[in-house]
Amino acid sequence: MTLSDTPAYFSVRDIHAYYGESYIVQGVSFEINEGEILALLGRNGAGKTSTLRAIARTGDPQVTQGEIWLDGDPLHEMASFEASRSGLGLVPEDRRIIQGLTVEENIKLAQIAPPVGWSLDQIYELFPRLEERRKQDGVTLSGGEQQMLAIGRALARQVKILLLDEPYEGLAPVIVQEIAKTLSHIREQGITTVIVEQNAVAALKLADRAVILDTGTVVYDGSAQSVLDDEKLRAEYLAI
Ligand SMILES: Nc1ncnc2c1ncn2[C@@H]1O[C@H](COP(=O)(O)OP(=O)(O)O)[C@@H](O)[C@H]1O
Ligand SMILES: [Mg+2]
Repeated sequence: MTLSDTPAYFSVRDIHAYYGESYIVQGVSFEINEGEILALLGRNGAGKTSTLRAIARTGDPQVTQGEIWLDGDPLHEMASFEASRSGLGLVPEDRRIIQGLTVEENIKLAQIAPPVGWSLDQIYELFPRLEERRKQDGVTLSGGEQQMLAIGRALARQVKILLLDEPYEGLAPVIVQEIAKTLSHIREQGITTVIVEQNAVAALKLADRAVILDTGTVVYDGSAQSVLDDEKLRAEYLAI
């Protein structure tokens, strides 16, 4: 990818990251326009999670080079909590629901510090199941409901871009469809999304664009539909 002078709404520019001596993210670049959904795909071990973690500045892997811009803000110059305050919302694979807190308390905890995003009512309108279970301990929810709670909690912060790491993992097809519908609704609210998924077909159906990683580098950047149409590409990098 050629880097222009002005970064796009969300722009990842030539990032490199390491776990100790292991060189994992090897110069990844991609851009997303505001309100788009990007599917970040690739085989197991391709570096998808590491790329999300590098973007969210979790500290591990360690980013040694590169720029990350969100709506004009240089996230690469920020600590993780500042990036989150600037509108970056990472929903990690393990969902991180806090045990001993109800569904509602999990959401309210995210709203303690400004900038606050969606209200409880808005979150419950998007996920009626969460309202039904609002007094239940968050960790007793089903997998699909926990994923909804993790997304709802990210929206409770003023989020500009959602980074979802395998939101469909372990979920029944009907629940995958339900969550996909809410992700479309979230896009209609102008929120930009990166979705990492092993369920590539489901992610591609939802996404506008796709980036495919292989051993920590970008091997495809283009429309999501073209990936669905390209059997060779799918066989080579996605095994579908
Ligand atoms: N904490 C870690 N320490 C060392 N190596 C890691 C760590 N996490 C992931 N890796 C390695 O980095 C590579 C990319 O992993 P990952 O980003 O999790 O891939 P993906 O999410 O695409 O399956 C793999 O080779 C994996 O073994
Ligand atoms: Mg992963």
